[in-house]
Amino acid sequence: MTSRPGVLVTRRIPARVLQALETRCEVDLHTGQAPISREELLRRVRGKHALVCLLTDPVDREVLDAGSDLRIVANIAVGYDNLDVAYARSRGVEVTNTPDVLTEATAEFTWGLILAVTRRIPEGERLLRAGGWKGWALDFMLGSELRGKQLGIVGLGRIGLAVAVRAPAFGMRVAYATADPVPAARAGSLPVPQMEPQSFDQLLATSHVVSLHVPLTATTRHLIDGTALARMKRTAYLVNTSRGPVIDEAALAWALGEHLIAGAALDVYEGEPAVHPDLLALENVVLAPHLGSATTETRTAMADLAVRNVLAVLDGQPALTPVP
Ligand code: DGY
Repeated sequence: MTSRPGVLVTRRIPARVLQALETRCEVDLHTGQAPISREELLRRVRGKHALVCLLTDPVDREVLDAGSDLRIVANIAVGYDNLDVAYARSRGVEVTNTPDVLTEATAEFTWGLILAVTRRIPEGERLLRAGGWKGWALDFMLGSELRGKQLGIVGLGRIGLAVAVRAPAFGMRVAYATADPVPAARAGSLPVPQMEPQSFDQLLATSHVVSLHVPLTATTRHLIDGTALARMKRTAYLVNTSRGPVIDEAALAWALGEHLIAGAALDVYEGEPAVHPDLLALENVVLAPHLGSATTETRTAMADLAVRNVLAVLDGQPALTPVP
């Protein structure tokens, strides 16, 4: 490529990472606080050779047709359900995501949610701030202990495994249900515990905490519906740091309201940033605003990996992390 390639970046990225891109490319950066609008995306992707985008940017046929010079779409996320990967590939466009760099941060956050919901931490804080705390009492705001109980991991990929390896620290045993091959040794520096493979239904029926770590696909959409929730124990908790539409939110709100399960902790939602109004009204659900990978270290590493993918492909090299 003789002239400098054009790259559209749909949201601010860390300055150091942006500079690395600017040394080699003409960068068109969307600087707004809100996601780039559909119209802007369609207009500004024209003539660009690379697109660096976020999980909030649907990159479908129309966008890929508008960006007819694109050679790579680099998603700053490990999930890529916002991209039409098959159509991009049919146009010869490389598609990359950001695996590995966010695994530990997301696993740590998942444990944060598990502790928050089982020990009612946000509920307690809400009560305290509202002036409702009348002092220590033996039976005040009792939660549920993790020790000796089963953590059920649905989807034993990188993040599922990273959550699982932390379970022994809380005295939990681990069961998993997965459609993917079980990763061999991808658990960072922590030893992989004994884990029991179970069917999805068995895992739902026997786990104290069910934690979701599947990608969003046609098969996993509403994997947790009314039927799945009815299979869970009344004392069980559901945690989701994967993708919102994996859960039927209306069914979950109903199940929580009826106390069919003890509680839920969610980081992701069906219609982000909207949250089902019935969930907002419930005390037994912890609601986080999609923060799983939100550490300075990890978000910088994600942007950096996306940019390194762009530079590799524009240099005629293979992408570092093409989507599988
Ligand atoms: C991802 O990378 O898919 C995460 O959801 C971002 O937090």
